Amino acid sequence: MAAGLGTRMKSDQAKVLHEIAGRPMIAWAIEAARGAGAARVVAILGHQLETVKAALDARYGAGAIEVALQAEQKGTGHAVASALPALHGEPDDRIVVILSGDAPLLRAERIAVLTEACAANPAGLALLSTVPHRPMPYGRLVRDAAGTLQRIVEHADATAEEREILDTNAGFYAVRLGHLRADLATLRADNAKGELYLTDLVARAATRGGATAIDAPFEEVSGINDRVDLAAVDGAARRRINDELMRAGVTFVAPDATYVDADIPVGRDAWIGPGVILRGRTSVGERVRIDAGCVLTDVTVAADAHLKPYTIASDSVIGPRAEVGPFTHLRPKTRLDDDARVGNFVETKKAHIMAGAKANHLSYLGDVSVGAKANIGAGTITCNYDGFTKHQTTIEAGAFIGSDSQLVAPVTVGRDAYVGSGTTVTRDVPRGALALSRVKQVNVEGWADRYREAQSRRKKESGDH
Ligand code: UD1
Ligand code: CA
Repeated sequence: MAAGLGTRMKSDQAKVLHEIAGRPMIAWAIEAARGAGAARVVAILGHQLETVKAALDARYGAGAIEVALQAEQKGTGHAVASALPALHGEPDDRIVVILSGDAPLLRAERIAVLTEACAANPAGLALLSTVPHRPMPYGRLVRDAAGTLQRIVEHADATAEEREILDTNAGFYAVRLGHLRADLATLRADNAKGELYLTDLVARAATRGGATAIDAPFEEVSGINDRVDLAAVDGAARRRINDELMRAGVTFVAPDATYVDADIPVGRDAWIGPGVILRGRTSVGERVRIDAGCVLTDVTVAADAHLKPYTIASDSVIGPRAEVGPFTHLRPKTRLDDDARVGNFVETKKAHIMAGAKANHLSYLGDVSVGAKANIGAGTITCNYDGFTKHQTTIEAGAFIGSDSQLVAPVTVGRDAYVGSGTTVTRDVPRGALALSRVKQVNVEGWADRYREAQSRRKKESGDH
């Protein structure tokens, strides 16, 4: 169910597309369902249907998640009824699991337990209950003296006495499709909200012996209504991600101050310093060291690489044993091969730095390939842009670029060639050659001494001390 407006988010974006640990809220429910073995997933959408559908298509492939339209939001019972046409050909004994698109922390294992409970329940209905830590406007579970579930009374409809009931409805259900079809047809909107309540299925199941309620921890089932909930659930999701990684052999120096998005693999014995942020489609290999303050977005880091503090990288590949940082900016389509080194205040973009090559200080390397073991001196700049187009620089293997050189692209520095410090390279440098564009140095003997004397004499004469 993801058709609701999410009014309390005060947002132009559909609530279920707000992200939790870098993954859209609705994707958490979808992935939990798939993790529990769901044969099909139908998203019930209404508000911003096209945008949400496009996000689902982009993430899972076009049409992989089926969509049912609930044009008007007339309650959770009405929402599920809107999905029935999508289930048309399915047999009555199929079990349908109903999840909320705004409760991302539910685990796949819990869905499996819920499904088994439904399969074992003669009335064909199981639901998750929870005891909230603080008062919540949830539906209350009403039982008879024998403990059999009789009905759910919504908070808005409950008497003061009913509101004292601790067991509340968490909003997740597993139900036999035959019963679902029959019972949904009997729902009426004769309640405080004037909606069709899905929760009335519980009273229908009571006539068949009663539904099964399975208790779940509040943290796992709590949903998101506003941005305070969003931040709280995001924090819980991130703690869960970090805990799982630590249990799998990753060291976090400060797990509470380290932000790792969902679905980011991190290898065993990786070491992650404080304030590190790993986003999107990033992956981190074994024994990688990522020191304080690094921010990686869509970056592949191979085994044994070392990222020193404050490395910022996006859409890049960092090879095995490469060393990066501190204060390095790897912009999109940077590729560092094995043992490459890129150091302080170096910015790269569309740069392929091959095995063992080094650019240790203060450089801009854009639209460039740097051959194996080449050395890029401090302050080297690739002048890749002429104001209209970008041009390529090729530095072949073993070349040595002296400090403070400019390479005016398109240009090639041949294999093992030297570029003298301070050279502006405007023509290709042949293999093994030296390129030099500096003016020849002149030394004027005694000039500095004479200059100082003349200056101090001038000061004295003008009485200026
Ligand atoms: C619902 C339950 C309540 C439970 C609570 C737990 C009902 C009647 N009540 O209440 O017992 O304690 O969840 O969080 O079900 N939705 C639609 N279409 C609609 C209405 C809702 O898709 O017409 C979706 C919402 O987007 C949301 C989910 O269903 O994802 C739950 O709806 P919401 O309005 O939040 O239900 P609650 O009033 O919180
Ligand atoms: Ca809700």
